[in-house]
Amino acid sequence: MNILITGCAGFIGSWVCQKLLANGHKVVGIDNFDPFYDKSIKQHNMKEFISNPNFSFSEVDITDMGSLDNIFNGNDVDVVVHLAAKAGVRYSGLYPLDYLKTNVFGTLCILECMKKYGVKKIIFSSSSSVYGNCTAEKFTEDLTNLKQLSVYAQTKKTAEDYIELYSRRYGINAVCLRFFTVYGKRQRPDLAITKFTSQIRNGEILTMYGDGSSYRDYTHVEDISDGIISAIYYDQTPYEIINLGCENPVNLSYLISLLEKLIGKKANIKTEPVPCEDMIRTYADISKAKKLLNYIPKIKFQDGISKFIEDFND
Ligand SMILES: NC(=O)c1ccc[n+]([C@@H]2O[C@H](COP(=O)([O-])OP(=O)(O)OC[C@H]3O[C@@H](n4cnc5c(N)ncnc54)[C@H](O)[C@@H]3O)[C@@H](O)[C@H]2O)c1
Repeated sequence: MNILITGCAGFIGSWVCQKLLANGHKVVGIDNFDPFYDKSIKQHNMKEFISNPNFSFSEVDITDMGSLDNIFNGNDVDVVVHLAAKAGVRYSGLYPLDYLKTNVFGTLCILECMKKYGVKKIIFSSSSSVYGNCTAEKFTEDLTNLKQLSVYAQTKKTAEDYIELYSRRYGINAVCLRFFTVYGKRQRPDLAITKFTSQIRNGEILTMYGDGSSYRDYTHVEDISDGIISAIYYDQTPYEIINLGCENPVNLSYLISLLEKLIGKKANIKTEPVPCEDMIRTYADISKAKKLLNYIPKIKFQDGISKFIEDFND
């Protein structure tokens, strides 16, 4: 297959590119090296596959319709894996217009190109943050009346809605995957596990939001990228929203103590109130992913974190 990956230089994008290329697919990667974090990290993310003959890279902004059109025009794309986004819930409150532009307008640009060039399948990177104020113990895809807590989460919900519209209106098959806090080698530097690891190692202050009892359904990027690849092959229904989580929530205090143990150093912890954009807890119900995608998360949290520490700075 000829697969277009947006955000190919990012954390998850680089894993998906590597796996698809290993499976013999052709991958067309685009990324604009958004300055949210350093370009050199993103270039490093691509180093394993940048010279693979089945991979082509273009520095393209998904909100630039002219350049995007050239990509669709010049490549016979079968499937789009749309991972490009401005990420990070807290930052989104500071730059709401930029988030709206990339995450909503940019998604619409992709959908318009798909419509124009007859591309019939998209996998979209949505987020557990869409569940917002949800009070259910486990988050299921059919929950309604969710109120998002951040501009970022709202942009993901709105993008899901546009994708559903294009699926219904223009026959584009779509799977919106709601990822639950993804970790593993090359994790984004703004995310807790990466940040905490370097803070503990360097003896810097680690800010813990709340009393440590908040929890997240951390999911290894290996499992997330396998779930994305299964979604590429899913063809039973035209539109689905599917959680990709681990169904194993871990609380913040435990995460910090595990990192301390593996690094062999105590954290220098300062506590602050939980920011209003942050969810207190996330817990995925993954029965739908199991049923539709044969998705079974394989990486246990302790093993994934041990490997993460081993690979850190690689
Ligand atoms: N990492 C997580 O825990 C997590 C959880 C839920 C959802 N997601 C979603 O998964 C996707 C990938 O996340 P990630 O953690 O790999 O983030 P990332 O920031 O590492 O990757 C996103 C990539 O998109 C690129 N990008 C941003 N704006 C762009 C634009 N206008 N045009 C082209 N490229 C652009 C960035 O340069 C970056 O390389 C994102 O859509 C994110 O919202 C991630």
